[in-house]
Amino acid sequence: MSHNSNPWLSLPPNPPCVTPSDRQAIFAWNELHDDDDYTVQVNMLPEPFIGLPEAPVVLLNLNPGFGPGDLEVHQRDGFRNVLHQNLVHGPLEYPFYFLDPTLAETPGARWWAGKLRWLLEQFEPKELARSIFCVEYFPYHSRRFRGARRLRLDSQQYGFELVRRAVARGAVVVVMRSGTRWIKEVPQLGGYAQAWTLHTPKNVVLSPGNFDAGGFDAVVSAIRKHLGGAAKLRVKGPMPEDNGQHTTDNGQPNLATEIAGVHFDNPVLTASGTFGYGREFADLIDLNQLGGIVVKGISAEPMAGNPSPRIYETDSGMLNAIGLQNVGAGRFLEEKLPFLRTLRTRCIVNVFGYSTEDYVRAIEILNHGDGIDAYELNISCPNTRCGGMVYGSDLKLTEEVVAASKRAARFPLFVKLSPNVTDITAFARAAEAAGADALSLVNTFVGMAIDVESRTPRVSNITAGLSGPAIKPVALRMVYQCVRAVRIPVIGMGGIAGAEDALEYLIAGAQAVQIGTANFYAPDTALRVIEGIREYCRRKRLQLSEVIGSLKVPD
Ligand SMILES: Cc1cc2nc3c(=O)[nH]c(=O)nc-3n(C[C@H](O)[C@H](O)[C@H](O)COP(=O)(O)O)c2cc1C
Repeated sequence: MSHNSNPWLSLPPNPPCVTPSDRQAIFAWNELHDDDDYTVQVNMLPEPFIGLPEAPVVLLNLNPGFGPGDLEVHQRDGFRNVLHQNLVHGPLEYPFYFLDPTLAETPGARWWAGKLRWLLEQFEPKELARSIFCVEYFPYHSRRFRGARRLRLDSQQYGFELVRRAVARGAVVVVMRSGTRWIKEVPQLGGYAQAWTLHTPKNVVLSPGNFDAGGFDAVVSAIRKHLGGAAKLRVKGPMPEDNGQHTTDNGQPNLATEIAGVHFDNPVLTASGTFGYGREFADLIDLNQLGGIVVKGISAEPMAGNPSPRIYETDSGMLNAIGLQNVGAGRFLEEKLPFLRTLRTRCIVNVFGYSTEDYVRAIEILNHGDGIDAYELNISCPNTRCGGMVYGSDLKLTEEVVAASKRAARFPLFVKLSPNVTDITAFARAAEAAGADALSLVNTFVGMAIDVESRTPRVSNITAGLSGPAIKPVALRMVYQCVRAVRIPVIGMGGIAGAEDALEYLIAGAQAVQIGTANFYAPDTALRVIEGIREYCRRKRLQLSEVIGSLKVPD
């Protein structure tokens, strides 16, 4: 096949949605990858490119991905028509279709809205939609790409040809991901003066701070020139200076973050079980400065907890076996929530139970609460009906309890994962597939300590949960892995005692962080962390969204 002809014109009308020239390679590949992360999805139309090929700005991405909700959206006739028009370069009101407001709720549109928000501050969506064109290195959907790099397809050549043409006509090219691969396929990109590589491959937001100096302006100028007099600028007057763009109106770096539609003024929350119901700390710090408070675990009925001793200090950490003592969902609504409602800080209610019905019952009671922003499901509890098998270390139980809780929940559902498993990403994916809106990780690590004089356990429960600085490197590794394994946001925690700890989690890709054990010995830790993150953003001239996921790793 010629590289110049569009292979997508020959896509069959019904699944399998593969071109005749790709068919053999894909089927052979899928034989080896039967329903795993690298399975090429043949029931969905591929998305090798998005938009008008002649657009002035061309974005080079890696692959269209595949996550929860994608299949359902792809089966809608309206969406299939849009995808088909795009594949054959047919006319569309919004050629870059993910900017079409009618598709705003699709996973793809949500992803792109985040990446393009700086440009959307400058241009109307419809204008931007005819000014940018994205080419994916790999055209078909799969959950992950890394393994699929060995799969070479004829159809890829057409995408590479579109990029060659873009270079030949002088388009501004933005390499969002995998510069090495792109240069290998399109050598003309090497040394091309109008090619810009984004700094952070994990968070490919098109923002001034994510380009080398001049890159963002080059993109904006190219679009303005293309739109000519028609451009309706959202921001009137001259372009703001680069050094002002990471700040809010009051000149401070913008630390706001959003998780599952919940807005947080900053990304620092206090962790469940370490901050009571909030009020206990009201005389110690200004609670309104916090991004959020996660209250201690609430069950449907009140619980007394374990006998003493329940806490023991270890080297750089702490063992606890409090036993999830709490006032129960009903009293929480009556006695604790009214105070939390008076704060501007977000209120997340941590929920637990000893059977799936317990979890659902607690949520059903809490659903009546006014002022709850989200639930955090603690799945580190033993299921009493399954011989004490811990929910969070059994994939089936995880799916069961998350799906049932999601069905019951009136507010977004964050699922808090246990670190006491071999592969935490499997649990992250199971929770995502069952409907979790976000993940919190991690809970405490099971540990123990012994008094050698009396030869008795230091904690009455014998084993207990380890938290504090001792767990940070392991917890950070788990956050890093999960961020890469799922599409939903991840909230990181474990051993955060200062701003640098929190920044490590954010750079690894956490959308927010929680402070736990440190509250016991330094109740102002969260406030110091917020100030430290602000100072870092100021010094680096970044806004928070540019820090999140900005870890630099070899391609
Ligand atoms: C005393 C104590 C009580 C806790 N109670 C809960 C709880 O009720 N629900 C929950 O999900 N996590 C609970 N946790 C876990 C913390 O929220 C957090 O996940 C963990 O301590 C790791 O963070 P850190 O190292 O900053 O403390 C508790 C931790 C401690 C130390």
